[in-house]
Amino acid sequence: MHCHILPGVDDGARDMEQSMRMIRTAYESGIRNFILTPHYKEGRHNASVSTICGRMEEVRREAAKRGMEVSLYAGNEILYSGEIAERLEEGRALTLAGSRYVLIEFFPAHPFSYIRNALDELGGMGYEPILAHAERYECLLQNWENVKELKGLNVGIQINAASITGALGFGVKRFAHRLLKERLADYVGTDAHDDGRRSPDVRKCLSQLYRRYDPAYADAVCFGNAMKIINDKKQG
Ligand SMILES: [Fe+2]
Repeated sequence: MHCHILPGVDDGARDMEQSMRMIRTAYESGIRNFILTPHYKEGRHNASVSTICGRMEEVRREAAKRGMEVSLYAGNEILYSGEIAERLEEGRALTLAGSRYVLIEFFPAHPFSYIRNALDELGGMGYEPILAHAERYECLLQNWENVKELKGLNVGIQINAASITGALGFGVKRFAHRLLKERLADYVGTDAHDDGRRSPDVRKCLSQLYRRYDPAYADAVCFGNAMKIINDKKQG
């Protein structure tokens, strides 16, 4: 539910071949459903919705040709700014898979009040905000109460698979596991950008999760909760 596999639209996959290598890796890790979340940053060049949807269809066809039947859904990872609510209403920035869920990121050093107010604003408009890679924000790493406050506002918490296995250092890893231990994390995403250092290979992460946590919870954060986003589409 968080990846940059769509080719040529952001700092993720460069071209169709790299996109295919990424899908192959994810596929071999057991992933069949993908919500594609190219970056949306106000004031920058963003791929239009028609570009995203058109290219997504090309990816789906190419993957099928190579024996990988996958379901792809369009979305954005939206860098929050004051105009975002309007862009969502206009349909220029995308929710996840046509649902009410929106994947929102901030700069790591943004103050907590800014993050909280932004997510609360979106929640008040009827969206289900999900905080992208929650383990990256200084205000949360430094103050656990802030995490709880966001949960109290019904904000979804997404963490990156690589943070769980320690690719971002021990402090981030410890924080990610605390989120899991206290059942505060809702989604584990790959946030894959390439087929190298930031690949969608989640096998190590999955084995750690299923070993260390209740398998039902591991299922929910890795697959089940993301499927709820996809199924929300039908109600929305
Ligand atoms: Fe991302």
